[in-house]
Amino acid sequence: MSALFLDVLHKTSSRHPPIWFMRQAGRYLPEYMEIRQKYTSFLELCYSPKDATRITLQPIERFDLDAAILFSDILVIPDSLGQDVSFLKSEGPVLSPLSLKDYEKSLSTHKCSEKLRPVYETVHEIKGKLPPTKGLIGFSGAPWTLALYMLEGRGSRDFAKAKRESFENEELFSNFLDLLADCVADHLLEQVQAGADAIQLFDSWAGLCPETHFLRWVIAPTQKIVAVLRDKYPDLPIIGFPRNAGAQYVSYGKATGVTALSLDASTPLCWAKNAIPEALVLQGNLDPVSLVAGGEPLKEAIRKIKEEMDGKAYIFNLGHGILPQTPVSHVQDCVDWVREAK
Ligand code: CP3
Repeated sequence: MSALFLDVLHKTSSRHPPIWFMRQAGRYLPEYMEIRQKYTSFLELCYSPKDATRITLQPIERFDLDAAILFSDILVIPDSLGQDVSFLKSEGPVLSPLSLKDYEKSLSTHKCSEKLRPVYETVHEIKGKLPPTKGLIGFSGAPWTLALYMLEGRGSRDFAKAKRESFENEELFSNFLDLLADCVADHLLEQVQAGADAIQLFDSWAGLCPETHFLRWVIAPTQKIVAVLRDKYPDLPIIGFPRNAGAQYVSYGKATGVTALSLDASTPLCWAKNAIPEALVLQGNLDPVSLVAGGEPLKEAIRKIKEEMDGKAYIFNLGHGILPQTPVSHVQDCVDWVREAK
C-alpha cells in the first residue's frame, strides 16, 4: 500500500484528502509535555534523536495522520551557524545580537550541517519506524524568515529592526540571504538523504516582505533552494509556505518550482483555485483558532473547505500551526470529519 499523502503530491490519487497538521507534535499533547519536562533546553531536545523520534511519532500514533513531520525547529540553522539561540518560556526564541554589516565575521559557515548531524540521525530513525503508508516530511525555515529572526534577535510583530537593516543595505542583505539559501539547501539535502519523502519550506513572515522586494528576497532564494534539491532529487515533492503572501502566492507558485502551496487562513480558497496554476497541489487552510473552538462551527468550516477543494489535488491542514491551548479531542474530531464521506 502506498502513502496517500505522497500519492496526492504525485497526483496519482483521488481518494479523500490526506491530513496532517503544522505543529502536530507539541505542547497541546500531554505525551509531548511528559518528554519535554526532562529537558531544560528546547534545542537539546531537538538534538536528541531518541526523544525527537518518539515525539515525531506521537501524533501519528494518536490520530493515524497521513504524514509525520520531523520534530525540530527552523532556528537550528542560526544555531548551527554559531548564533546563540534559546527559547524562553514567556518570550519565545531569543538570539544573540547579530548586525547585518558583520554577519560574515560573526557566523561560522564552515560545515554548518555537521552540527546538525543529530537531526539527520533523527530522520533516519523515524524512517525506520514509520509505516510505509505514511509520508515523512523534512523541513527548514526559508532564508527571508530566518534572516528576520537572526537580525531582530527575537520574534516580533513587524520585525522593524531587521527590515530596517535590510533596506539600509540591500546588497549586503541579498548576500546574506544567499548564504542562508546555501545552508538551507544543504540542510534539506541531508534530510532527504536520511529518509525524508517530502519537504516543507516555512516562510512564516513572507507577508512582511514589501511587494517591491518579494521577488528578490522571498522568491529568488526559494528558487535557488528548489533548484539545488531538484538537481539531485528531480521528483522530490516540495511544499512552499509563504504565509500571508496574499496575491504573491501566484508569482511564488509559478516562479519557485515548488510542488505544492500551503495556504494561510486569510487566503480565499475559491480565489486560490482559480488564480494558482492547476499543476500546483494545494494545502491548508483551516484557522488554528477554529480548532481551539471545536464543535459545530469547526465541522462546518471543514465541510466548506472539503467542498471547495473537491476534485483538486489537495492536502488538508491548518493555515498555521496548532496552538498549545487546543483540546486534543478537537484534533480527533477534525481528523474524523475530514475523513467522513460527504
Ligand atoms: O510541526 C511540527 O510538529 C514539527 C516541529 C516544529 C516546531 N517548530 C517545534 C516547536 C516546526 C515545523 C516548527 C517550525 C517553526 N519554528 C516556525 C515556522 C512555522 C510557524 O509557526 O510560523 C517558526 C517561526 C519557529 C520558531 C519558533 N519555535 C518559535 C517562534 C517558537 C516559540 C513560540 C511557540 O510557538 O512555541 C518555537 C518553539 C517551538 N518549536 C516549540 C515546538 C514544539 C515549543 C517549545 C517548547 O516546547 O518549549
